[in-house]
Amino acid sequence: MSQRQTALLVTEIGQHLSKATRPIPEPKDGEVLVKITVAGLNPHDAKSRDDGLSIKGSLPAVLASDITGHVVRVGPNVTHFKQGDHIFGQALLAITRPPGYTDAELATLPTNLVTAAVALFDSTGLNIPSPLDTTALKFNYEEASILIVGGGSNTGRFAIQLAAITGIGKIIVVASLNGEADLKALGATHVIDRTNPGTHIAADVKSIVGDDSIYALDTINAPEDQYIGVEALSNTKTGKFARLRPRGPVDESKLSAKKPLGFETLNILGASNVRTATSVPLWERVSGLVAEGKIKPTSFKVIKGLDLDKANMTLDGYSNGALSGQWQVHI
Ligand SMILES: NC(=O)c1ccc[n+]([C@@H]2O[C@H](COP(=O)([O-])OP(=O)(O)OC[C@H]3O[C@@H](n4cnc5c(N)ncnc54)[C@H](OP(=O)(O)O)[C@@H]3O)[C@@H](O)[C@H]2O)c1
Repeated sequence: MSQRQTALLVTEIGQHLSKATRPIPEPKDGEVLVKITVAGLNPHDAKSRDDGLSIKGSLPAVLASDITGHVVRVGPNVTHFKQGDHIFGQALLAITRPPGYTDAELATLPTNLVTAAVALFDSTGLNIPSPLDTTALKFNYEEASILIVGGGSNTGRFAIQLAAITGIGKIIVVASLNGEADLKALGATHVIDRTNPGTHIAADVKSIVGDDSIYALDTINAPEDQYIGVEALSNTKTGKFARLRPRGPVDESKLSAKKPLGFETLNILGASNVRTATSVPLWERVSGLVAEGKIKPTSFKVIKGLDLDKANMTLDGYSNGALSGQWQVHI
């Protein structure tokens, strides 16, 4: 008889999680079975529970793709891991965990770091030549600039750090001013008050980079407010606008004027197993980047144990805007 485990499961889209037992799976070809120590919940997990994001068609489903844990069984054809390895990763892609940080700190990285990397470097994102790719083209990073709307979010913080590693000369961030010192320590060169109106933000960006802003990433706004990043893009070059919330078109009616040369809208998918051209080189380098202090974990809050009510309350909080950041289940 197979052994069973307790899990918090989505059994029906749009309903609260429920607690149940289910069989512990046998690892298949290329898979390992991991005993989880930390599972990180992020805002997208509420979208999975409430709207079926990424899990429709595979119910019952377990949320939280940011994990740390120990390998307890190894499937056929696994060469990178052995039983007992202490790992961290984004569910389907993991590495042996580097020293120097706790499991909880490392669990803040996977989804949000990969998402930021896809936004900056992937061909489906802003497609800025990646310094993680040894074949990087000649690119004048020092002359380049990037606008990050939502720089105070966890994804935004990783985007700032990656832009800084890349050597982008001007990293302009739209965030709360009370986080300015923090964001500058991560690499932001300019912080613009996010409570300003969009036209004011665009004017501030232009006062820093003239009409040369061609890379913008919005990590936080829904489509109705994504005009803020687009407004700041160049009027004389075709800019690129990457966004993490792709449901519906950017509301261009809110722009002060239509972009004469248009702009490219890029919908970002921060999934390691799908965006492998960007995620694999990133995962190969992540231990080194963490050890060198170039990538720093973000903050998190803790739910102790498989607490069904607290997990549902956290997801409810993401949905109604009362909560943000990462909430981790510590097991
Ligand atoms: N497409 C994908 O693959 C993907 C992957 C990951 C996440 N996401 C989505 O990306 C979004 C952000 O996730 P996250 O985990 O990074 O968020 P988060 O860490 O929860 O971000 C919250 C922070 O964003 C800042 N913020 C809030 N409203 C803002 C506004 N109007 N303008 C600028 N900044 C604002 C605030 O920081 P300050 O007060 O310091 O400014 C706030 O504390 C979520 O909707 C998530 O579902 C998508």
